[in-house]
Amino acid sequence: MRVDPITRLVGHIAVPGDKSISHRSVLLGAICDGETRITNFGRSADTEATVEAVRALGVTVYEHGTDTLRVFGKGLRGLQAPGGAIDCANAGTLVRLLTGILAGQEGQQFELVGDASLSARPMKRITEPLSRMGAGLETEEGHLPLGVDARPLHGITYELPVASAQVKSAILLAGLYADGETTVVEPVPTRDHTELMLEAAGAPITRREHSVTVRRAERLELGEIEVPGDFSSAAPFIVAATLVPGSELHIHDVNLNPRRTGLLTILERMGGRVTVYNRRTIGGERAGDLEVRSAELVATEVLAPEVPLAIDELPLFALLASCAHGASRLRGAEELRAKESDRVEATVDALRALGQHVEGTEDGFRIKGVPTRPRGGRIRSRGDHRMAMLGAIAALDSQEGVEIEDAECVSVSFPGFFDLLASLRQQAAA
Ligand code: S3P
Repeated sequence: MRVDPITRLVGHIAVPGDKSISHRSVLLGAICDGETRITNFGRSADTEATVEAVRALGVTVYEHGTDTLRVFGKGLRGLQAPGGAIDCANAGTLVRLLTGILAGQEGQQFELVGDASLSARPMKRITEPLSRMGAGLETEEGHLPLGVDARPLHGITYELPVASAQVKSAILLAGLYADGETTVVEPVPTRDHTELMLEAAGAPITRREHSVTVRRAERLELGEIEVPGDFSSAAPFIVAATLVPGSELHIHDVNLNPRRTGLLTILERMGGRVTVYNRRTIGGERAGDLEVRSAELVATEVLAPEVPLAIDELPLFALLASCAHGASRLRGAEELRAKESDRVEATVDALRALGQHVEGTEDGFRIKGVPTRPRGGRIRSRGDHRMAMLGAIAALDSQEGVEIEDAECVSVSFPGFFDLLASLRQQAAA
């Protein structure tokens, strides 16, 4: 796929429902009592895998149009093991959160599999704490396929060795089935969508500044949930409108959970011009509208505590920094190497191929900013949706455009990405 430069980004857009919240609404809906009605569901390959997974476990899901779902929950202990393996496709959030739930389905056995990328990602980070709770789990040396033998669970106190919302969520979900209390201590805050949704569903959960505790639950009920727009899908457009001169772009109904919007804080330090207006609550989450104007940027440092708040946007940060005045640095982000691809290596390869000055380090990037437009060229997505979008956004501000190999993988999180780009091109020409 070839993406050409754009003259400017103007007008009003909205992005699909948040992927993290969409996964959670279906997974929690599956173990609620009664019906959960989900609107603005972020339909993508990842979240469709979640719908198929709960269907395989005996849950009825009705789909109305593309973005309304009705999930008829089986209650906390009503999931039924399917005949074969559950396919988690490319979705790390699905495999990790579902394992926490399945560990609690006492007396049943399950098997979870995924695609080549998911099968290469680390699972020990969940099997270790869940095994301590009493779960019977088996992996291929820390990788999928993952076998779950659901046994009685007991609460633990667990300090997260890696800052991961997926790991925290897997433990909290298993904690709903465990005797006693289950506490996750979180040295560095990560996204808290699971905690917010568990609270809304009436789970016995207590939140403190650096820890969360759940107790055994008998019944959950969500009712209705409206999914706010995905900040991580808005981020490429925030970056594009910042970089392309003359832009003035409004992005509506975006989730602004402060544990997701680290990119806005970083961008503010760099001189970005993003204004939040119409602040409100959508689906129990903070949300609002954004106005993004193009800006000249200066370099900055991003350190470990900021990393989880911008984890999926760090490749975009590298692009921003490569177009800023001065030298930037990202540290404490070794987790980037355990994503859908090794995103340190993938980002460095991609941005260098476009003429940018980025170097990989063990735990991040060293970036020499040159405040001119990227040259352009050809990049490989490595089957990673965020890399394909990075290439497309760099293309918009480039001199020669960018050819993206395997760009279709954007459908993992944002199937309408290229259509939205095309509509922005039309608006720019109008
Ligand atoms: C997610 C948590 C993050 C993030 C991923 C979605 C979630 O992963 O990168 O895209 O929905 O909980 P980690 O928990 O591995 O940091």
